[in-house]
Amino acid sequence: MSHMIELGQKYIMNSYNRFPIVIDHAEDVYVYDNTGKKYLDMCGGIAVNALGYSHEALTKALKEQVDKLIHISNLYYIPQQIEAAELLIQNSLFDKAFFCNSGAEANEAALKLAKKYGKSKNENKTKVITMIHSFHGRTYGALSATGQTKYQKNFMPVLDGFSYAEYNNIDSLKELIDDNTCAVLIEVIQGEGGIIPGNKEYLKAVQELCHKHDALLMIDEVQTGIGRTGTLFAFENFDIQPDVVTLAKALGSGVPIGAMLCTLKADVFVPADHASTFGGNPLATTAAKVVLNELINNNLLKHVQEVGAYLQSELGKIKEEFDAVTDVRGMGLMQGIELNIAPKEVVSKCIEKGMLVVGAGENVVRFVPPLVITEDQIDECISILKEVLKEL
Ligand SMILES: Cc1ncc(COP(=O)(O)O)c(C=O)c1O
Repeated sequence: MSHMIELGQKYIMNSYNRFPIVIDHAEDVYVYDNTGKKYLDMCGGIAVNALGYSHEALTKALKEQVDKLIHISNLYYIPQQIEAAELLIQNSLFDKAFFCNSGAEANEAALKLAKKYGKSKNENKTKVITMIHSFHGRTYGALSATGQTKYQKNFMPVLDGFSYAEYNNIDSLKELIDDNTCAVLIEVIQGEGGIIPGNKEYLKAVQELCHKHDALLMIDEVQTGIGRTGTLFAFENFDIQPDVVTLAKALGSGVPIGAMLCTLKADVFVPADHASTFGGNPLATTAAKVVLNELINNNLLKHVQEVGAYLQSELGKIKEEFDAVTDVRGMGLMQGIELNIAPKEVVSKCIEKGMLVVGAGENVVRFVPPLVITEDQIDECISILKEVLKEL
């Protein structure tokens, strides 16, 4: 075992299952470990490194911002934060932004917003409905919203006021929703749950039920958002307009940032209702501005549509060739292959052969590479995956 792994095991809390490699640096869509071994990165920091590594515009903007100002409190107006919000809002139908530092925090903000919205209508309108197999984060509110007992079981009791509907089953939601529901929080593609796309008619019906009961429709786009599926927000593919969306991961391309956007209807926070010391600081929002600019003004969304379709069709061919692959599903550069063999073995073998991928759900291997990946690099991924599947 390498010295660094020994030190890691000695000093870092044992809350992650880590693969036995030590990462040193990265370039383009390739990551290098401390022995110099090169890995094609189809994991992208788990859907984070949108612009890959060493992206010129991003590193230049960040270096300049480091020289200028890294952090200042939200007690003052922050130009980079305002400009990042402007980009998000002018390219959507939302009206206001709140910045924080992670996906869980974005969902915490959304849950508080929902409760306040509900209480402004009726003191008992505080129920939140989320979905079975959803994932919304590890903090207590987000964990309580997450419809998977495996994440909650060691930390019971989770917060009251949540109930969990079956995903893609509108009758299940109908049974739970009523006029005391303040919000439905849902992913349009369940990510951690196993890359399970929502059905368009179902999601439209969810929106209708929310309207009927005056509950906020809140979409968790922490994983699907910011270009991942080929549109700025994944919900755009489903013909719905939520009241609230939560974002993180790709928004900073590796610089920690989260955000919640809402329409005027849901804009109920007043000073002291919610805050975050670091939220939307100049460095993080500089990164967000570069990412958004690449997506919106430099054709990156179109690129994701093209290479995403290519990845999906190449994975489809793999499914035809290998019995171990039972399904291919996803959208854009968020794809999963369902397996009838242990995904962990596939992930480990891929790493051995120089490719980073990540599991999802019980039986899925997920591909969420940097959005700048090329078709040639996808060919490389497919050829490594074939080698791995042949050996297993
Ligand atoms: C849909 C979704 N929501 C929330 C989160 C939590 O984000 P974070 O780890 O940044 O708190 C994740 C993380 O995987 C996610 O996929």
